[in-house]
Formats: sequence, structure tokens, C-alpha cells
Amino acid sequence: MSTPIVESVAAGAPTVESNAPRWSRRTALLGAAALLVPLAPAIGSAAPNAVAAARRHPGGQIRLDSNENPYGPSPAARQAILASAVEAPRYADDAVQELIVKLAGLQQLDTSQIVIGSGSAELLNMAALLAAAPGPGGELIAAQPTFEQLSAYATAVGVETRWIPLDAGHAHDLAAMHAAITPRTRLIYVCNPNNPTGTALRRDALESFVRAVPANITVLVDEAYIDLVDADGVATLAPLVRECPNLLVLRTFSKIHGLAGLRIGYGMADARLAGKLRELQMAFPNVAGLRAAMASLDDHAFLRETRRSLLADRARVEAALDRLDRAHTRSQGNFVFFDAGMPVAEFNQAMLSRGLRVGRPFARYDHWSRVTIGTRAEVDLFLAALPVALRRSA
Ligand SMILES: Cc1ncc(COP(=O)(O)O)c(C=O)c1O
Repeated sequence: MSTPIVESVAAGAPTVESNAPRWSRRTALLGAAALLVPLAPAIGSAAPNAVAAARRHPGGQIRLDSNENPYGPSPAARQAILASAVEAPRYADDAVQELIVKLAGLQQLDTSQIVIGSGSAELLNMAALLAAAPGPGGELIAAQPTFEQLSAYATAVGVETRWIPLDAGHAHDLAAMHAAITPRTRLIYVCNPNNPTGTALRRDALESFVRAVPANITVLVDEAYIDLVDADGVATLAPLVRECPNLLVLRTFSKIHGLAGLRIGYGMADARLAGKLRELQMAFPNVAGLRAAMASLDDHAFLRETRRSLLADRARVEAALDRLDRAHTRSQGNFVFFDAGMPVAEFNQAMLSRGLRVGRPFARYDHWSRVTIGTRAEVDLFLAALPVALRRSA
């Protein structure tokens, strides 16, 4: 039986809280049902209507600009999100601990070597704070262009960035990054695969680099897109944290797991470094995200199908760019970086006029754009608009 308050709100009766969201058994059930229905095309489904789905955002645009994964959350994660409601009144200590234990098992690390963050962005910020801690004058070495969160936060807390241009293959120039080390260097950022270029370093090259960096400098390897690599020799550096006390490897549930809005990421490091980072934590992770992350890790069918779809559509975009004779990198992420042959703002505007929001300007690549791999239908729309936008006939 509903309580009188719920009844009166459900019946539309005026109450002192009439601006509050109306909550009834019906809305609760509708909310639950919405979570259980596939949001984006049922991954792996052969049903044409499922494949056709394209998700328009307010303003009618299709968002292919933030490297999100439209297939998430996985079916198991959706159930876990619903079930987490009963835990919502409590702080999520138990869920944090359970996820740490699960990740430690999967990565064959000790629980003391895992740090959970509210997205890997929080862990990037924590690393910047750690670099700032000894006082003014510290430097961060990073490739340009790369994912800017770390550098932006480092700047805000007084750590300057020494930018090292990518090499001719649009990849990290590890030799130049090593040569740029000075007594002021406190942190080195390697995004592998790199956002926005999608290039990835081979594991052996990256391992040699990490081993050659002086032990007082932290090397942060950001593996947000590691689940989407298919190039030979590219692999996680996570096992190396057992041997290198200055290595920090970051992962996120925002990409292959499709949980960007639920803000869960994690770091792997030597227990001492992990402990120092934990002290700098700013937010306490949320229980829905933690439970969804745990469930998603076990939803192997979803992860396999998501990867298969994203890689197939990534290949379709790259093939279309080849046919149109546009240079592009061989992407190892859920996005493709390509030469639009015109100022990127012009190209992006041409796409926007067709309802597609892509990329944004990246340093040193004025004419290159980045498109996120969306659903099959969204990629179809992008591919239909691409030749027209490239001809500037917006
Ligand atoms: C390379 C890289 N690292 C980290 C992040 C941040 O992800 P999260 O949602 O876990 O904060 C992103 C987001 O796009 C990214 O591209």
C-alpha cells in the first residue's frame, strides 16, 4: 500500500512540495523498466530496428564528440544499478572494498595496489596534486596533443606542462619525452592509446621507457582505451606496477563498459604510491557506479559484442576515409582522428549543420577532426554526411 503522501502526489493533489518530482509506484516501475530496456541498439542483435537506433540529444544532435560508448550499460550493470537503490542511504564503503578485491583478483595485484576514483579524471587530478605537493617549480611532461585533463589540473595547482610534440606517425615520441626530463620533472603522462590520435605504443617500447625514467618521477600510463586495441604488441602495462614503484596505470569504466555518467575509474600502483594517491581523494565513489562496474566486469558477452561492434564501425569509418583519400591514423580507440583538409571549426560546423556533433580543435592539428564511434546507425549518418562536409558544401 502506498503512503498517503505518495498517493496525494500521484493523484496530482496540490501539496506543499508541489515542485518536487512526482514519485509513485507507476513512475518507479517505469524508471525500472527503462533501465532494463536496451538504451542503444541491443548489442549483437540482428533486429533491424535495434541496429537502426540513433540517439538524439536535446537540440536534436547526435553526439559523436566525447568518446562515450552508447551501448552501455551492460544488461547486468543495468540490473545492478536498480538493485543498488537499497544501498543508496549508506556510504559506499562496502562496495568500494568489494570492487577493490575484485579488481585486485583480476589484475593479480594486492588490494593495497588499487585505488578507486570517481572516474579516472579524479585519479588524474590526484596525480597532479601529488606532483604539486613538494611545492612550486614542478613540471609535468606530456605529449601534444593528448588528453588534457591532467595538464589542465596540474596547471591549476601550480605544476607546469612541458609539451612534447607527437612524432611523424602521430604517436608519443618517447625518446624526446625522455630527453626532456629535468630536475624539475615530477610527472610524465603517457596516454596509451592516445586520445585524440588513437595511436598506441608497443608494450616493450613503453616498458623500456618506464624502466629508464628516474625513480623519483612518477610515470602515469592512462589506459582508458586499452580494451579497444587490436594492433600487435600493444598491451597493458599493469603487471609492471609490481616491479616499478613509480608507475601508475589508470583505467576507467567510462569506455568499453559504457558507464561514463556513473563516474568510476581506478588506478594501479605500488602500494606506497597508491597510498599517497588515496590520501588526495576528493570525492567518495557512488554506490550505483560501483555496483554497475562490478556487474559489468562479469558481463563478458556484452564486453565482447561491444568491442566487436565498435571495432567493426571504426574500420568502416577508416575505410570511408581511405576512399575519400583523407589521411587518418590507425585508431586503437573508440574514435577516429582524420585530416578534414580544412580548419577543423569549419568541418565541425558542416557536420553540426547535419545534426552531428564531432571532435573539437586539438593543438598542432588545426585541420584534423575526431569522431567517436557511436551506434551502427549513428555511424551510418556520419558516413552519409562525411563526403558532403568534406566538400565544404554545408
Ligand atoms: C584518455 C582519457 N583518460 C581519461 C578520461 C576520463 O575518463 P573518466 O570518465 O574515467 O573520468 C578520458 C575521457 O574521455 C580519456 O579520454
